[in-house]
Amino acid sequence: MGYRIAVVGATGNVGREMLNILAEREFPVDEIVALASRRSLGTEVSFGDKTLTTKDLDAFDFTGWDMALFAIGSDATKKYAPIAAKAGCVVIDNSSLYRYEPDIPLIVPECNPDAVEGYSKRNIIANPNCSTAQMVVALKPLHDRAKIKRVVVSTYQSVSGGGKDAMDELWLQTKGMYVPGQEVEANKFTKQIAFNVIPHIDKFMEDGSTKEEWKMVVETKKIVDPSIKVTATCVRVPVFVGHSESINIEFEEFLDEDEARDILREAPGILVVDKREDGGYTTPVECVGDFATFISRIRQDSTIENGLNLWCVSDNLRKGAALNAVQIAELLGRRCLKKG
Ligand SMILES: NC(=O)c1ccc[n+]([C@@H]2O[C@H](COP(=O)([O-])OP(=O)(O)OC[C@H]3O[C@@H](n4cnc5c(N)ncnc54)[C@H](OP(=O)(O)O)[C@@H]3O)[C@@H](O)[C@H]2O)c1
Repeated sequence: MGYRIAVVGATGNVGREMLNILAEREFPVDEIVALASRRSLGTEVSFGDKTLTTKDLDAFDFTGWDMALFAIGSDATKKYAPIAAKAGCVVIDNSSLYRYEPDIPLIVPECNPDAVEGYSKRNIIANPNCSTAQMVVALKPLHDRAKIKRVVVSTYQSVSGGGKDAMDELWLQTKGMYVPGQEVEANKFTKQIAFNVIPHIDKFMEDGSTKEEWKMVVETKKIVDPSIKVTATCVRVPVFVGHSESINIEFEEFLDEDEARDILREAPGILVVDKREDGGYTTPVECVGDFATFISRIRQDSTIENGLNLWCVSDNLRKGAALNAVQIAELLGRRCLKKG
């Protein structure tokens, strides 16, 4: 006996990837339904070699469904997630709505799988922000060995993190540069994204940081260890899929770069590509469609006592969203619901 699964936001970037990954990983599904807004009623989406016809979320009854993987943004989640949870269907949510609530687990299965037991308090589990997810996969095994004191991270985030409209804006604006009369003004982004970089993701906070940067700070503490200090600068770059991060880590104890490389090679979810030669590292285009978080450029930071630098790249629609949600579903099934 398998699970009855709802994918909510099935026409979006993350929802489509959820369907792909559930099929790729042969998740034990008895029945699956694709849900989106009324606008998309009847839209066809792929689930492995099958085609699903999208249904209207507003008219859907979650009674008897085991899990709902949500990817519809905070406002709509606020309305529909409590309805699903109350009907007995466990919500695994990709929005930021529930991440910081103490009675809702925020999970990256490679880092804090035991937190899944807490799902039953609200019948909701939160998925972290894309830039946090890939970073904590790299931090956790190093923290277990040498205890991290402080992290300085700069991100290079692809436009798919902003949804399908953001991808369209990069595509059309880039084309428009070459076709007179087809110029595209900034709309989804605050400035031109084609051939540019923008040091601003999500809204500004009172202290001058952005919400995206704040999320990396707070979520790392909740998932890995509240004692870790994080300072982040989050930047949008004209890449379609794949987030990159330059991460500087200060440890309590000395950690040699070779030992760090060995630890990361053994760690779950990580692929180390680190040769000190031309092309001996990973770039975003190479990580698209992959499950792994890729780590390159591992090297000592000689300006502090116990420091390391590394480069971290992952498919933001996969480890940063859909894959992590499916891994949570697998964990929940294995540890708690026990079907399949
Ligand atoms: N992209 C990433 O890297 C990433 C990473 C982590 C988390 N997330 C989060 O995942 C969520 C989805 O992101 P995305 O990139 O997939 O966005 P997207 O490509 O813009 O897709 C949004 C999806 O939500 C549906 N939707 C919107 N409003 C709805 C409503 N009122 N009722 C029912 N369905 C509604 C849309 O359906 P229609 O087609 O019918 O409009 C569509 O399926 C967001 O919360 C985002 O913050 C994204």
